[in-house]
Amino acid sequence: MTTTPKRYTVTAALPYANGPVHIGHLAGVYLPADIYVRYLRLQGRDVKFICGSDEHGVPITIRAKKEGITPQQAVDKYHELIKQSFEDFRVSFDVYDRTSSQIHHETASDFFKKLHADGKFIEQTTQQYYDETAQQFLADRYIVGTCPKCGNENAYGDQCESCGTSLNATDLINPKSTLSGAVPVMRETKHWYLPLNEYEPWLREWIVEGHKGDWKPNVYGQCKSWIDQGLQPRAVTRDLDWGVPVPVEGAEGKVLYVWFDAPIGYISATKALTDDWEKYWKDEETKLVHFIGKDNIVFHCIIFPSMLKAHGDYILPDNVPANEFLNLEGDKISTSRNWAVWLHEFLQDFPGKGDVLRYTLCANAPETKDNDFTWKDYQARNNNELLAILGNFINRAVVLTQKYYEGAVPARGELTDYDKEVLGVLEGMPMVIATYIERYKFRDALGELMNLARLGNKYLADTEPWKLIKTDEERVKTIMNIALQISGSLAILMEPFLPTSADKLRSMLSMNPAMWTDAGSAELLPAGHVIGKPELLFERVEDAAVEAQVQKLLDTKKANEMANAVAEPAKENISFEDFSKMDIRIGTIMEAEKVAKTKKLLKLKIDTGIDQRTVVSGIAEFFNPEEIIGQQVSILVNLAPRDIKGITSQGMILMAENADGSLAFVQPGKQITNGGTVS
Ligand code: 2FM
Ligand code: ZN
Repeated sequence: MTTTPKRYTVTAALPYANGPVHIGHLAGVYLPADIYVRYLRLQGRDVKFICGSDEHGVPITIRAKKEGITPQQAVDKYHELIKQSFEDFRVSFDVYDRTSSQIHHETASDFFKKLHADGKFIEQTTQQYYDETAQQFLADRYIVGTCPKCGNENAYGDQCESCGTSLNATDLINPKSTLSGAVPVMRETKHWYLPLNEYEPWLREWIVEGHKGDWKPNVYGQCKSWIDQGLQPRAVTRDLDWGVPVPVEGAEGKVLYVWFDAPIGYISATKALTDDWEKYWKDEETKLVHFIGKDNIVFHCIIFPSMLKAHGDYILPDNVPANEFLNLEGDKISTSRNWAVWLHEFLQDFPGKGDVLRYTLCANAPETKDNDFTWKDYQARNNNELLAILGNFINRAVVLTQKYYEGAVPARGELTDYDKEVLGVLEGMPMVIATYIERYKFRDALGELMNLARLGNKYLADTEPWKLIKTDEERVKTIMNIALQISGSLAILMEPFLPTSADKLRSMLSMNPAMWTDAGSAELLPAGHVIGKPELLFERVEDAAVEAQVQKLLDTKKANEMANAVAEPAKENISFEDFSKMDIRIGTIMEAEKVAKTKKLLKLKIDTGIDQRTVVSGIAEFFNPEEIIGQQVSILVNLAPRDIKGITSQGMILMAENADGSLAFVQPGKQITNGGTVS
């Protein structure tokens, strides 16, 4: 679409209502979508921003089972949590609906019925795993077995999480149902398939020929590779009891495949929003844009468009600006490993700092490759950029205006070349940023916004109105007028990125509602307009705050290691005689000190009940000498003495090693007389 579209339908991937949303979701999908939509609104365009919870499919049933609740209870809980997080981060959907709603069930059902009536599906009977105990067919995620590639005994029917291989359930060795533990059997089942192979020539023309250089390289490349590999018919129904029932005869116990019903959710949500929904979905002059993460590309570029094409009444996406993934402190974000910064928890720890996270995630967005979120970067972006550049400039401009003119914008006098140059940059800025946004380059757009704040700072630093006020009051009026025009412009241009701070700044400047293009005007704040009192836009993020977050992640890592620890296999059998040769006693530590010039060794004096003896033990990294005096330990007393660092060590203290490598004494459960035997 080259000319300005009549209207826009902008969708953001419907998140699964099986858990809260995290920074990866925000950075990858919802933030870029929100920036785009807010920008369009400021341009006065007709736009609907559509989203909702994806409440069907196996991920939901698994979560419900894990929590011991029904799927409906699970989606009710997470739908509310997710919706609230989006509101808190000012993601400005026009509608946030849900796919368990009646309107969605009807819409998805009707869509299927039309394709069915028009003969767009093929029916096929295949063999699939069935659990005779639980009396149901098993979705891939409900089957575990041994991975044929790496031997992991807990590989799923669709993927081995240990080696990453994509699997078919039939590839697994010794498959087992996770529902009942039973060995599944093969049983015949009938399903409806969308013959994607028939859409291949059309998809090739539409995407490979039609969107080259227009869609992002990561999106285009993935689509081309799918099409080049050859498309296969894809089942659009499943044997499951949670979802939209398949609305044709002979389909009892079957539901629509979640990836068939979820994208139709965009249409149902628009219906829920407005009676006028058809023009947002059926008029060629509407521009449809899907914001998604990279794991959703095939569904939004190949499968959903084929469904829309098969239906015949709908427009197709103009663009699908998918992002790559965001990692966290060098590791993949993972819900199951709790390796994430959850949006609702972030706001508990950093109240009122939603914009700072929005800023960090946009400045470091995974637009062209996977990127990493670190707490150090978050702190630096806040302290060195938002606070030091944007906040500092605004503060200077507002404080000086209050001080010199009691808040009334002074009139400009004669302009120097420098003034003209600065006003020239200001005039061009809305267009520069708009061009980036319209090309889905949000990082670059944000970079330009900050460049404008940098220019403002430099202008004040170069012209030094605080010195000049003593000698040339007239000149200062011009300088301050220009600084205020830049401030007003920033208030408009930052709104898509930092909506809360933009509100604050607009109110600080007592600005009237303005449009995007007004931001280039040198008369945005006319002479005589009275601005409000200065307020700080951003606050420092202190070391302690980010250190606490890093510690939280270290604790998570440790907990994961402990939970996933696999005990070492048992050693070879020994005879009772061999065992009874070891003389293990309970003793008490009487003295403890570090062995000089070593990191790991402690010299201990132990009362073994038999004698008091010296033992050198490699435990210094885990215990302070002062803290262990008086503790009872188990000691092997008949180990042949050894010289360690010039000290004769008589025996060995028994230690237990934790999964994370930390050590603990093997101690009696109650006080035992020194010399008591361990057997
Ligand atoms: O990947 C996901 O989280 C899916 N729930 C996205 C669905 S997008 C759309 F098709 F509904
Ligand atoms: Zn494997």
